[in-house]
Amino acid sequence: MIQNIVCDIIIFGGHGDLALRKLMPALYHLCRNGYIAKESRIISVSRDGYSQEEHIALTKEKLQLNLKGDCYNEEYFESFKEYLHYVQTDLKESGSYEGFAELMREYPERERINYLSTSPVLFGTICKNLHDYDLITPVSRVVLEKPIGRDLASSRVINEEVAKHFEESAIFRIDHYLGKDTVQNIMALRFSNMLFMPIWNAQYIDHIQITVAESVGLEGRWDYYNEYGAMRDMIQNHLMQLLCLVTMEPPCSLDGNSVRDEKLKVIRSLRPIEGDDLKTKTVRGQYSAGAIEKEAVPGFFEEEGGSPNSDTETFAALRVDIDNWRWHNVPIYLRTGKRMSKRYSEIVVDFKEIPHSIFPNKGSCIDSNKLVIRLQPDESISMFVMNKTPGLTDGMRLQKVKLDLKVAENAPRVPDAYEYLLLDVVRNNPTLFMRRDEVEAAWIWADTILDGWAENNIKPKPYPAGTNGPAASIAMIEKDGRSWYGE
Ligand code: BG6
Repeated sequence: MIQNIVCDIIIFGGHGDLALRKLMPALYHLCRNGYIAKESRIISVSRDGYSQEEHIALTKEKLQLNLKGDCYNEEYFESFKEYLHYVQTDLKESGSYEGFAELMREYPERERINYLSTSPVLFGTICKNLHDYDLITPVSRVVLEKPIGRDLASSRVINEEVAKHFEESAIFRIDHYLGKDTVQNIMALRFSNMLFMPIWNAQYIDHIQITVAESVGLEGRWDYYNEYGAMRDMIQNHLMQLLCLVTMEPPCSLDGNSVRDEKLKVIRSLRPIEGDDLKTKTVRGQYSAGAIEKEAVPGFFEEEGGSPNSDTETFAALRVDIDNWRWHNVPIYLRTGKRMSKRYSEIVVDFKEIPHSIFPNKGSCIDSNKLVIRLQPDESISMFVMNKTPGLTDGMRLQKVKLDLKVAENAPRVPDAYEYLLLDVVRNNPTLFMRRDEVEAAWIWADTILDGWAENNIKPKPYPAGTNGPAASIAMIEKDGRSWYGE
């Protein structure tokens, strides 16, 4: 039975890219599917002085553009627009919140979801104003978009400012990777199949690879990206979360703290990468001009808004070790970058080789079993196993076959990550959101690498756009006698 929840969802930065491209389409689906009751309001707050009619027209235009498939429905939009409200507010100016406060006072008892889809520098100011206008009630929650800081010190400042006004249990820090269907499926796969339980450890697993490759460049965000780079933008958060889900111990339940406690233990067990390891276990890269799918694309400096002489990495590859019993001597290779040859995200669990072969070396040689969890663009889970080549052959010949554990084509529409996560905020379920200690522990680990790069003057190595990063990233894994899956 769908629970029809009445709430006010307030989007600060309501006309920003994230709000119109991701949040509104997600809310459209949730409302249309009956998860958010008709009396609820979606209140967009921004500085840019739109009338209510202009706001509705803008939302409609963006939904038509951003709703995938044929999900936009003109008739349904007539109902959806009843949810929509707009209020102009300069978020930096405390005097400017009066109109917004008045709107909120209309329903003082209602659950309030304050989604801060703004730059993190405004998080503290917005929370303070909500408090000063007496708009934080026992049923108010706040949602924070990443980045929560660019290092431990700045993330602490942000967390402190928000914590002055909201209890930790009311703070929902989004990492949209946790809302992806296949990412959630990692937990289902690991903890609902006896098959994997006894072999999910150092005795049977040789290593794990996590690749998040993007073919896009900076999409008009040069200034932001130049400040952050691949380590802060992707590894400290998205890849870290994937790593945690794949390697954590089974939580005692799916409640928020049990899952997050287990993730935190993994982060705290990561071996710091410092000293000589910075040169052998990390690779930084930066793309130069090249071509993707036969289209010429500019280099990092030539992107819109770019300027030369930046040392920001647009690619990073790391060998990570987890110092605990389960993962002793099992390296986890992480890799992410912009302007790589194609967009794909994938986790590969590579099992150890069999201890002894009874098969003559005919047909395929015996390859290790692999579990490949594909997150995007085509979601799938496959297992590679060895099998007998059918028919009369000269002796027993082997072949590698692929078992599909999940076939996305047969599934109903897969909701977008933001749909899952917004619904969880509405339902007050924090399991898929990052707790403060988790974010800060991830920064402690990432800061060691970032500081090491700076202190040792480790510069990014160039790689042409359209390739899979600098050759050094291949050398890094080959030195361990392994190779990147599929290359
Ligand atoms: C964001 C990063 O968090 O994730 C972007 O800031 C990146 O730089 C994006 O492009 C990738 O998300 P997805 O869901 O497209 O893989």
